[in-house]
Amino acid sequence: MITIDLSDKVALVTGAAQGIGFATARAFAISGARVLLADVKPEVAEAAKLIVSEGGVAQHICCDVSLSEGCRAMVEKTLSTFGRLDYAFNNAGTGSYYRPVGEVTGDAWDRVINNNLSSVFYCIKHQVPAMLQEGGGVIVNNSSVLGVKALPESSVEYTAAKHGVIGLTRQVAVNHGADGIRCVAVCPGLIDTSLVDPTSDGGIKAGGIPAALRKHFVDRTPLGCAGTPDVIASAVVFLCADQSSFINGSHLVIDGGMSQG
Ligand SMILES: NC(=O)c1ccc[n+]([C@@H]2O[C@H](COP(=O)([O-])OP(=O)(O)OC[C@H]3O[C@@H](n4cnc5c(N)ncnc54)[C@H](O)[C@@H]3O)[C@@H](O)[C@H]2O)c1
Repeated sequence: MITIDLSDKVALVTGAAQGIGFATARAFAISGARVLLADVKPEVAEAAKLIVSEGGVAQHICCDVSLSEGCRAMVEKTLSTFGRLDYAFNNAGTGSYYRPVGEVTGDAWDRVINNNLSSVFYCIKHQVPAMLQEGGGVIVNNSSVLGVKALPESSVEYTAAKHGVIGLTRQVAVNHGADGIRCVAVCPGLIDTSLVDPTSDGGIKAGGIPAALRKHFVDRTPLGCAGTPDVIASAVVFLCADQSSFINGSHLVIDGGMSQG
């Protein structure tokens, strides 16, 4: 049996108000780490309180990780609150829908690239110097099955952004491995969160996707179902732990087999 003990460690999770980010912040806390939850939504305060009510040590910050300033503030708050930064899960992101490429506006492109790729760059830019203060750390970036594969129903901007996250992960792993920093990615398939909630109106701002599209993704998944946020959370905690000390620059696809078809 593998026992993961992250006592004395400090983790930072972006997009932690809900979904995969919240599940991962909670998993870090259960493993003994102190956690800073970051999200653009004020509900992140409640998310941190819930973890504390379960016996964890957690704090929060409301910030926009698509801006360098938001990421700087987030890392500063981690250091001023907990004194160190060992692990970061750069998870915040937003979805988008397929449109023929000629119909994708520059604004739509910029929004998706900023929220899903530039945000990860800004996170890493501020996290690496903080980790170096303690001699290293682990960065896990949230890509997607669309970071390793293109699917007919997906948008060019989202697929490009998530492929970019894999490239960024690899280069940071190569550039900073010798500094004691490992950098890896996870690539979720369909995971039940508000991002793919068929009960929402399917609008990007509200989150969610049309029920027919969700069913289509389930049908493409050999295991025949969506995953839960906890399956990603467990993988992220494992990738941060010493048990993964030789894993660097890799991406772990967690998709029920969707990408094999
Ligand atoms: N759910 C899936 O099927 C799935 C599949 C593959 C990849 N992903 C990726 O997983 C990540 C988490 O998504 P989720 O499914 O938990 O969705 P979610 O919508 O439930 O959670 C995303 C969180 O990120 C926050 N966020 C978005 N932009 C932000 C910003 N600029 N600054 C700070 N916070 C921001 C949101 O407020 C929200 O709380 C995303 O990067 C998404 O692309 C999800």
